[in-house]
Amino acid sequence: MTQTIKAAIVGTGFIGPAHLEALRRIPNVEVVALVEVNQALADEKAKLLGISRAYIFEDMLKQSDIDVVHICTPNFLHFSQAKAVLEAEKHVVCEKPLAISLEEAEELVRLAKATGLVNAVHFNLRYYPMVRQMKVMREKGELGEVYSIMGSYLQDWLFLQTDYNWRLEPDKSGESRAIADIGSHLLDITEYVTGLKITEVMADFSTVHKTRLKPLKTIETYSGKMLTPADYQEVSINTEDHATVLLRFDNGSKGSITVSQVNAGRKNRLNIEIAGSVSAFEFNSERPNELWIGKREKANEQLMKDPSLVHREVSSLVSFPGGHNEGFPDTSKQLFKEVYAAIAAGKQSEHPSYPTFADGLRELLIGERIVESNKKQAWVSI
Ligand SMILES: NC(=O)c1ccc[n+]([C@@H]2O[C@H](COP(=O)([O-])OP(=O)(O)OC[C@H]3O[C@@H](n4cnc5c(N)ncnc54)[C@H](O)[C@@H]3O)[C@@H](O)[C@H]2O)c1
Repeated sequence: MTQTIKAAIVGTGFIGPAHLEALRRIPNVEVVALVEVNQALADEKAKLLGISRAYIFEDMLKQSDIDVVHICTPNFLHFSQAKAVLEAEKHVVCEKPLAISLEEAEELVRLAKATGLVNAVHFNLRYYPMVRQMKVMREKGELGEVYSIMGSYLQDWLFLQTDYNWRLEPDKSGESRAIADIGSHLLDITEYVTGLKITEVMADFSTVHKTRLKPLKTIETYSGKMLTPADYQEVSINTEDHATVLLRFDNGSKGSITVSQVNAGRKNRLNIEIAGSVSAFEFNSERPNELWIGKREKANEQLMKDPSLVHREVSSLVSFPGGHNEGFPDTSKQLFKEVYAAIAAGKQSEHPSYPTFADGLRELLIGERIVESNKKQAWVSI
């Protein structure tokens, strides 16, 4: 009989419950415990989400039946919690960014390697079937030599001066905000799809709201609750609302990305356009079931997500027939399917198909160089 893998989720704000839903759709996996900042909140969330056990972090670590821990807390906690999970000999799935400094991420990569435990970073946007389709098409020569890359990741949830979240506080989020929070997904997809490495960056940041009105009561990400003026305190902001970065790649080609959390109407829109010598691709995460394939000498194509139309190497990421749209929640399920296959085998795969702590470190490195470039207003090598 197949053994059930037992998981715990740490942090139950926005993304923790998304991990829970995805795990509930995978056979032989049971989320047995939720972890929160205090026992009362853990109990409340466990009841709300239908999980039988609730802990604070240290107590959860002592539970010998828990095989794997998902870290879904604010960024500054990822390092200490991921380290403690590995030291407790449990597999770990960590949210991005892996840490808030390069040194922390390097230590996690070293520790994870030494233990042999499964380590993954939730770069879930790679798991849109059309993203893997672009990667596989590129591997099969259907893109050709990459000429240029143009990406953007736009959101509007920090558009108003009254929009507030822990991500605006560098001690909780890190020195970079828009780049670390959403640029990391875009940069990860850029290198993943093209197979190229970014070698140099030139960045220019702007902070649109130099001060923001911080609510004196706590609110969860995206919860959209309304407060009155007396509930706010004015605070200065020194992380980027918006960033443009010029990129140079190891094949000599060039590109750019723009990320912003203050673009009205753009809810969560990752867009990437890759121009090659055979064709061009455009993918937009708000229309994730479609891929535009640009042609010079014949009509352009619009590929719809359909297990019988995508390449064979992509069909494992498609759970429903064409026309039955899949979206954001499915990306986590598809990522976890690959991670849990490694957990079932008991160790990190030799050539993991899923994003690992090494990929998390890579994004931290690029992110740090981008911050440095913005400070110097000069090109910086990776
Ligand atoms: N991959 C993605 O698409 C994606 C999307 C959103 C968020 N994220 C990442 O997930 C993480 C969490 O983001 P969020 O939007 O869910 O934040 P959130 O603020 O909505 O939730 C964070 C949760 O962590 C809990 N928490 C805080 N300290 C804790 C502690 N010491 N022990 C246990 N729980 C604690 C909070 O009470 C809260 O419930 C961030 O690192 C973010 O970058 C990733």
